[in-house]
Order: sequence, then structure tokens, then C-alpha cells
Amino acid sequence: MRVPDIIIAIDGYSSTGKSTFAKLIAGEFGFLYLDSGALYRAVTLFALDEGMIEGTDSIDLERLIPALDGLQIDFRDGKTCIGDRVVEDEIRTLRVSSSVSPIAAVPEVRAFVDRLLRAFGQKGRIVMDGRDIGTTVFPDAQVKIFMVADDNVRAQRRYDEMVSKGETPDFQEVLANLKERDRIDSTRETSPLRQAPDAFVMDNSDMNLHEETVWMRGLLQGRFGILDPREA
Ligand code: DC
Repeated sequence: MRVPDIIIAIDGYSSTGKSTFAKLIAGEFGFLYLDSGALYRAVTLFALDEGMIEGTDSIDLERLIPALDGLQIDFRDGKTCIGDRVVEDEIRTLRVSSSVSPIAAVPEVRAFVDRLLRAFGQKGRIVMDGRDIGTTVFPDAQVKIFMVADDNVRAQRRYDEMVSKGETPDFQEVLANLKERDRIDSTRETSPLRQAPDAFVMDNSDMNLHEETVWMRGLLQGRFGILDPREA
């Protein structure tokens, strides 16, 4: 039996390893991976570059909202692009991470990103990760996963990722940024980060990638009776 053409929605807190897990299962089952956070990050980079964000809170919505109409964000060869510019690395810097949650709380930005995500979703066989994929973007997704992990484990992962890219982060600053983003993401009015009632919870604080794959196979086996992912 093969995995049907479903949407797999993966939501959860920052740095719980959603994108790593999503890419892993996309590869394992022949699905397309889509990182919804990259779209919010790209909008944030655009707003920063255009001088539309002052400090961490003040966003020039009068300029940002009309500018969304002409903003072209896409994925090319798995890399996030604004127009012709590849911004995959730039959107992962602390500069963008520090401003992305307030931008993602703007209802017009969410509507803009949701439109793009639903258009991508038309292609089927999609694994999409984010904060509201199983609750708002694709509430009918056939498989929903909600990922959680210990705060310090998450901060260490983000810290290691930044160091591997040549940055010199401060661990406490990374931890504080992560907690602050969780707070804003969970308490915003539009599509707050919530566990969908029908989501399966994965706590991967002490799991390696192999254990995560085994966990997913077990879930799909139970759900669709798939015995061997190579048949997918
Ligand atoms: O997953 P990430 O850290 O790249 O996400 C960046 C930000 O975008 C995060 O602070 C919350 C926001 N986000 C969101 O509000 N909804 C999504 N579906 C995905 C991300």
C-alpha cells in the first residue's frame, strides 16, 4: 500500500526540529516539503530592508500592507527567494528571528502567507511545517503532528545551527529570543499557535532522527496500514 496523496501538517514551538523532521519524512515518503515559517521570515526581511520596522515592535503597517500585493516570494530549488534574490541564509539570522513574530501577528500578513501556502498545497503530497498549519491553513489535513521539546534542548539546537553558519550567538540571548517568540506566537489574536485536537504530539527532547522516523512509520502504519515505506 502506498501513502495516499495527503497533506501532513506539522506544528509546534520554535526550534523543536519541525523542519528537520518534515524534510526527513518528505524524503522517506516522497512528499514535497514546505516551510511556512520561511514565508513569514521573508516578509520580515523585506520589511527590515525597506526600513518598515523600528526596534522590535513598531511596524509601519501603512507601508507594509499595500506593499504585500507586489511582494513575490517563492521557493526555488528548495531555497526561499524574494523576486530573483535568494534569501535562504539571510532569513535565518537573529536580525530576522528577532522581528518575525510581531510581523507574523499582523492579520494582513497572515492572509497573504495563507494564500501562498494554500496554493502550494494544491499540489498534494505535501509536508508543511509551521504554527497554524493543522488549525488554520489546512484544518482538514489527514495527518497532524504537534512537536514539543525542552526549552534548553531547543535553544541549544538553535545555537548550534547558528554557530555552524559562522555566527557567534550568545546562548542566553538565543534562549530568550525563543521564549519570547513562543509567547508572541501563542498569544496573538489571529491564528495563535495551538495544538489541533486531532494532532499527535511528539516530544523529541530525547529522540534522534532514526527514532523520529520509526515513530512516523508507526503512526502511518496505524493510520493507513502501510507496512513498508519503500512501497510509498
Ligand atoms: O518556524 P520558524 O521559526 O521559521 O518561524 C518563524 C516565525 O514565523 C515564528 O516566530 C512564528 C511564525 N510562523 C507563524 O506564525 N505561522 C506559521 N505557520 C509559521 C511560522
